[in-house]
Amino acid sequence: MPARLEIEGGVPLSGAVAVSAAKNATLPALATALLTARPIVIENAPALADVTTMTRLLERLGAAVTRDADGAMRVQVERVASSEAPYELVSTMRASVLVLGPLLARTGTARVALPGGCAIGVRPIDQHLKGFAGLGAEISIQNGYVEARASRLKGARITTDLVTVTGTENLMMAAAGAEGTTVIENAAREPEIADLARLLVAMGARIDGAGTARVEIEGVPDLVGARHRVIPDRIEAGTLIVAGAITRGDLLVTGVVPEHLSALLAKLAECGVTLDVGPASVRVRGPQRPQPADVITSPFPGFPTDMQAQVMTLLGLADGLSRVTETIFENRFMHVAELARMGARIETDGATAVIRGVREYQGAPVMASDLRASAALVLAGLAARGRTSISRVYHLDRGYERLEAKLAAVGARIERKPS
Ligand code: EPU
Repeated sequence: MPARLEIEGGVPLSGAVAVSAAKNATLPALATALLTARPIVIENAPALADVTTMTRLLERLGAAVTRDADGAMRVQVERVASSEAPYELVSTMRASVLVLGPLLARTGTARVALPGGCAIGVRPIDQHLKGFAGLGAEISIQNGYVEARASRLKGARITTDLVTVTGTENLMMAAAGAEGTTVIENAAREPEIADLARLLVAMGARIDGAGTARVEIEGVPDLVGARHRVIPDRIEAGTLIVAGAITRGDLLVTGVVPEHLSALLAKLAECGVTLDVGPASVRVRGPQRPQPADVITSPFPGFPTDMQAQVMTLLGLADGLSRVTETIFENRFMHVAELARMGARIETDGATAVIRGVREYQGAPVMASDLRASAALVLAGLAARGRTSISRVYHLDRGYERLEAKLAAVGARIERKPS
């Protein structure tokens, strides 16, 4: 049933709200189940559409996926039943490509649909494939599918041409099941990489340097099962923090790792947002009006592209002119036209958006185009005068667990309605 969100804006959020487990750490953690016949147990897998898509894909490949009595998700691939990730699933979720590395390591063969472009950019996977070739796989593209083969992957030194998050993860999983030592240079340093390393180590791999630009992985032939608790979702945390700020609220966001949020928190402080950072929480109090600021997205520990739309929404209300430059994806300004419908004054010129702050947004019917753009529209709706109706919220459901329930519990007037 397609749904929309109705928001009556203008309520300062107050109270405490807890962050769920990270989508982008859960997806690779689930894919590790392909590396071993023993179960992988994810203690805190969030209930998200993308997590469902990944479990459906793993079931197609032979996994038994169950929930333990305590809610933990148990994934076991005793035998790989198929090495093919079909287009119908990969086209709904690009992260499906994360099965390539572990399938190749376990069975020596993988056939995975090429994801194609998506709403935010072209997003090729050439660096994943170059890395697998470096580990000794033969790669070909046939009828829209990547076909990869290797009798036994062999450890190697791989330098990626650019920093890629899922590319680094895919190579780490392949290397964990490969013979010998792999060194990935120019590796992504996102917290999700270190989280995956923690799980692979629990499965028996030896890994050094995860979270730095040089990751060394010593493969082992018999990876074992493991239990894992994934890190909190830093993008959900950031989105909630901006919700507190943009509504001029007083919100305590709990269950966070503040070091994962450093670039965002520094930028918000620059905007005049009051932040009290605890060991695992952030209390946010919004200013009457934010100060303008310039933002440039970059790989971790830089400012995350996944927070760009949300922070632009805050800057849209700032007292002055801000510039936001998106360096990771070439088409990640889809929220701009929708924010304009709510009164924002934003002009884009290539990768840069120039934002002239307005005093307020007005509620309006708007349409979500991708996950983080949807979150930006929710934030604008929370701040706006009047009623905002957001259609296509299935984009939001891919990556935010019960967002409207969490926001309603801290005072937001937000409701899900059938479209
Ligand atoms: N790229 C290539 N070739 C490759 C791989 C990447 O040219 O082989 C380019 C991409 O087109 C992009 C840049 O490199 O311009 C960085 O892409 P990256 O591979 O790092 O992105 P990703 O791994 O596909 C993950 C997150 C995204 C997040 C980006 C950047 C997951 C499942 N997805 O994507 O999350 O935006 O890293 O931090 O981890 C989201 O959650 O909304 C989301 C889009």
